[in-house]
Amino acid sequence: MKTQLRSSRVVIIGTGAVGATTAYTLLLRERVSELVLIDANKDKALGEALDMNHGLPFTGGVKLWAGDYSDCADADVIVIAAGASQRPGETRIDLLKRNAGIFDTIIQNIVKYNDHGIILVATNPVDILSYVSLKKSGFPSNRVIGSGTLLDSARFRYLIGQNKGINPRSIHAHIVGEHGDSEVPLWSLANVAGIDLEFSDEDREEIFNSTKNAAYEIINAKGATSYAIALALDRIIVSILQNEGSVLNVSTLLQDYNGVSDVYLGVPSIVDRTGVREVLDLKLTGQELEKFQASANKLKSEISKLEL
Ligand code: 2OP
Repeated sequence: MKTQLRSSRVVIIGTGAVGATTAYTLLLRERVSELVLIDANKDKALGEALDMNHGLPFTGGVKLWAGDYSDCADADVIVIAAGASQRPGETRIDLLKRNAGIFDTIIQNIVKYNDHGIILVATNPVDILSYVSLKKSGFPSNRVIGSGTLLDSARFRYLIGQNKGINPRSIHAHIVGEHGDSEVPLWSLANVAGIDLEFSDEDREEIFNSTKNAAYEIINAKGATSYAIALALDRIIVSILQNEGSVLNVSTLLQDYNGVSDVYLGVPSIVDRTGVREVLDLKLTGQELEKFQASANKLKSEISKLEL
């Protein structure tokens, strides 16, 4: 069943591979009533909007246009997918200098028109740029969310499903921490129907390495990732607009959380109309705790180099 929502506006800033594919995903699934595309390259936004609008006779009633920041005024969710993306061999952190700069302008422009919406950050390094968005917007932290490790958790579930011959929708498993090289697999929580999953050490290593390196593999092969991140963003947006209260591994501000404070990281969080309503109280121990704290320290040391 289609989930046509009550009158809702989503603005997408940045119409590169991720922004445009997210718009197309929302359009195909008829998730929103209004969809606005903004890009520093106005022609790119215009071209994407035209192309998608020509598909409307085959889809439905979404109103979509290439707009400007004043369209943020009535937005429920503002997705930021603008900025440079990784070239082959680059890490997400390598993008920080280039992308932190443009966030100044983007956030200033958003808050000029909107003081009530939810900012959903997808640009990398997503955890640090979510923190930057929080500081620069002055929004409460529940309304500044990063896509976090939702995509990594989906990749993890897919690969576990492949290994076990089970549909990934039936696999419960979480990646937490940085959306990037220091992310942490929570093997202790991986289960199907509440039953723990057993793996050999080799299988664990192979599944986690494939999860962690998925983006590098895809970027080497086709230049960018787009489809799965678009579906992950769609999932977060629908959980917000439908007031679902789904538990999603989004990036959110952590305070006194497993020894970690004042940093954005991906953790299981309840997402509803208020944004991140609550962070689930994971009790990490042993190596999982150590790795999670190391992931936080890595990002905090990058944040300390920024002027915020
Ligand atoms: C991804 O993991 C590149 O962060 C992007 O697909």
